[in-house]
Amino acid sequence: MCGIMGYVGPGQAAPVLLDGLQRLEYRGYDSAGIAVLDREIDVRKAEGKVERLIDLTKTSPLNGSVGIGHTRWATHGAPSDLNAHPHSDPSGAFVVVHNGIIENFYELRDRLTEDGHEFTSETDTEILAHLVAEAYRGDLAAAVRSAVAQAEGAYALVVMTVHEPGKIVAVRRISPLVVGLGVGETFLASDIPAVLHRTRDFLIIEDGELVIVDESGATIETIEGEAVDREPLHVDWDSEMAEKGGYEHFMLKEIHEQPAVVTETLAGRLEEDGSAWLDHVDFDDDFARNLNRVWITACGTAYNAGMVGAEIFRRLLRLPTSVEYAHEMRYADPLVSEGDLVIAISQSGETADTLAAARLAKERGARLLAITNVVGSTLSREADDVLYTRAGPEIAVASTKAYMAMLIGQYLLALRIGAARGLADSDLADRVIHGLHALPGDLERLMQSEAAIADAAKRLAHAEDVYFIGRGLDYAVAVEGSLKLKEISYLHSEAMPAGELKHGTLALITEDVPVVVVITQEALYDKTVSAIQEVKARGGEVIAVAYEDDDRIGRFADVVLRVPRTDDLLGPVNAVVPLQLLAYHVAKIRGNDIDQPRNLAKSVTVE
Ligand code: F6R
Repeated sequence: MCGIMGYVGPGQAAPVLLDGLQRLEYRGYDSAGIAVLDREIDVRKAEGKVERLIDLTKTSPLNGSVGIGHTRWATHGAPSDLNAHPHSDPSGAFVVVHNGIIENFYELRDRLTEDGHEFTSETDTEILAHLVAEAYRGDLAAAVRSAVAQAEGAYALVVMTVHEPGKIVAVRRISPLVVGLGVGETFLASDIPAVLHRTRDFLIIEDGELVIVDESGATIETIEGEAVDREPLHVDWDSEMAEKGGYEHFMLKEIHEQPAVVTETLAGRLEEDGSAWLDHVDFDDDFARNLNRVWITACGTAYNAGMVGAEIFRRLLRLPTSVEYAHEMRYADPLVSEGDLVIAISQSGETADTLAAARLAKERGARLLAITNVVGSTLSREADDVLYTRAGPEIAVASTKAYMAMLIGQYLLALRIGAARGLADSDLADRVIHGLHALPGDLERLMQSEAAIADAAKRLAHAEDVYFIGRGLDYAVAVEGSLKLKEISYLHSEAMPAGELKHGTLALITEDVPVVVVITQEALYDKTVSAIQEVKARGGEVIAVAYEDDDRIGRFADVVLRVPRTDDLLGPVNAVVPLQLLAYHVAKIRGNDIDQPRNLAKSVTVE
């Protein structure tokens, strides 16, 4: 977790660092700080968002053209000015920022305390400043190596010292780190969009590497000290894509980008005859033909997308497919075996739990396929095959367009496998192929019904509990709708299969408890209606998400949010959109911070 920045160049470091930190706030935003080196190192930090730090630097400016910065998501020690990074050694000559966790923190701190070191914060980071200072013998890179050799865990570390001005040393141990190469200036950041408006040329630092940065560029070595030759990556993203583009919130912008995201994710990949050409998916037809079992593993919204994916695989391919929470799978001794396909889904490609489950799958001889949105992410580099979702940078913490792109990626993947081993139901496959091409238009149309959804949000905004129900694929969508509502509205909500309601939870349904029902799956329609009747009989208010030509639902539901009809197997793509917008508008009525909800961060790189 956390966002880190570094700058070496001819200009003032502070504005570059602060600007980068604001772009990295999705990684954590409970406190922030920067350190700038002139003749001495000067530090400013503040609890709260980067905005507060900016105000502080206005009243108390920093001068200097070398600096490092950090925006924090607390792990060790509460959010506070004191615990905010950067952290220094007692002399103030060494300063560090760090993203991740030092697992042997207590051991190291005890050892340092016995040796007479005193600490001013509760963080694990501060010990790194002490370790570097302790090891320094005139070579910063060597001192950083020594500190890293002692500190176990997954992290990225950036260090600067008064003894070697004009230089920053950084290390990547799992947590992401990139170098931006400018003209006469060099940047360090947790991700590419943080400095994309300043340069388009990047060096991606790999796990286990150390980089020495000065204004002329960067030298990469392994932590052990071997030279690494790395070609810069030229990034074509439009930096406009990372801005709000006229919407009040990134989340709203990202919801509205979904028609374009579907177009992008499909582009050049799906022929009219159903053949799917997936760049970076390299398995051959024999592998697909001999496949016995598929596992999907992920967390949060990516897991919810996997729930849909498992059903796509089962229905299109009749292939046994299960979906597993990555944090459970990694400790469950799963029966993954050679020849299985394990699909790890992760927007960021950096989620620690998902990476661990993916690595376990590889160890057991499975083929690992990543579905991810981030080119160059750890997951993408470790996988045998990668399906990039092409959703563009997702800034809002609550994922919307990345979820959508994950769904599309899974339809494509099923069609690719089906082309090799045969599709279970070719009529269904034809309808899906046809439906996929129609989706961007459907979604554009759906966006026009936002006013009705905003109106429905008023019914939920003051509730205390909300239930989401559905059956089959509708249940998978209900789970995602409920998660979206929880994340940004802070309302208690729960999703369950509609058939489960009567087995206990019905006791909680009263006239004060609204129930959102997703009802698109024809084969289960009447069963879902029965659940609606059970709710209505207890006075519960029902908001239904149903196809636009469904002329029965009006009899049962209090409010109907309409979505374009498509094949039921594609139903989740359209049905999730009203739920995303519903969550957005409820959160807006409640006056919450929609793009950066409390207690959450965009990328969960700790276990
Ligand atoms: C919710 C959300 C999270 C993420 C989860 C996994 O809106 O975004 O639940 O889906 O933390 O993240 P990735 O996809 O980056 O692995």
